[in-house]
Amino acid sequence: MKPYYFLCLAIFFDNSAYANNDALNIICSAKPKTCQWLQSSFVDKYNIPTNIVRMSSGEALKLIESPNNSNHKIQYDLWWGGTGDTHLKAIENGHMHQYSPKNEQLLGWSTYINDLSDNHTVGIYAGMLGIIANESLLTAQNIDLPVCWSDLGDPKYRGQIIIADPATSGTAYTFLSTIFQVYDPFQRLQVLAEIKENILKTTTSGYGGLLPVAKGEAALSVAFIHDVRPLSTNGSPLTIIIPCEGTGYEIGTASILKNAQHLEEAKQFIEYTLLAQTQNELTRYISLQMFSNVNADTSPVYKNLGDLNVINYNFRIYSNERVRTKVLSTWKNLNH
Ligand code: F6P
Repeated sequence: MKPYYFLCLAIFFDNSAYANNDALNIICSAKPKTCQWLQSSFVDKYNIPTNIVRMSSGEALKLIESPNNSNHKIQYDLWWGGTGDTHLKAIENGHMHQYSPKNEQLLGWSTYINDLSDNHTVGIYAGMLGIIANESLLTAQNIDLPVCWSDLGDPKYRGQIIIADPATSGTAYTFLSTIFQVYDPFQRLQVLAEIKENILKTTTSGYGGLLPVAKGEAALSVAFIHDVRPLSTNGSPLTIIIPCEGTGYEIGTASILKNAQHLEEAKQFIEYTLLAQTQNELTRYISLQMFSNVNADTSPVYKNLGDLNVINYNFRIYSNERVRTKVLSTWKNLNH
């Protein structure tokens, strides 16, 4: 195994101590295991030193948009994964490099987001949001499962919900903007205020909110449904509910930073992750999103896509700076 492989793994866990501006530096907003696997398989295949740091979508956006970014020890080249709305916002504010994928074997939603971004971000995966319940915990308390988003505000779920902070998490922001899109302005305030009342704890990432629910520390969370199955097969009793109002979805994207020092390597990394072979390995072992290559295997989670009640999610509007600020401040200003 190559010596810098160990260095790369070390940097994954401590992103400041081993800052290495000679390597391709990637912010990865997918699940830690996905980020780790991509790094080691890319290094093995291309022999390009690569550091990957995991950050939630909103955290990455904040870092990239921070005015002091040039003072950061690590000069990041690429942002891989995380909800596309956060990438679109960084693009809107001029932080990203224009790039169209060379790979032409991509599904329509992937090319759609590339077009929408004026060729500044590339669609890698997609996934739907759901309510995730620890059913046995609810049954033990004689409480039934929620059916709709609005049910999450029922007082019977007081202290039962763990949800991520929408300012840091793309998952939680997708939840908030879904409520904005399925309810009118008056109803949405009421629904969100009631849900906020029932929250036990807030996490940084969407995936981080699922773990305690799987362990039985709380009964309910909101997450992308592809993150649930790997936890369920380990014996945890998680149930997925697609809410009656319809659910939102993400397009997870990859974008190159404007001042990338390793431009060709960053492009190579994106192209590597668009290959059907790479995407199939992720599906087989680690990540169950829908992947963007037309020849990639279908995720077992999304086989019956037509059965899922998915809304016509508006990426253009909900990535907009003014709208994002309004959505986040609405949530923040609700009493809890
Ligand atoms: O765990 C993987 C994942 O659900 C991705 O599909 C998604 O883009 C990302 O996590 C969102 O993470 P966060 O909520 O931490 O921004």
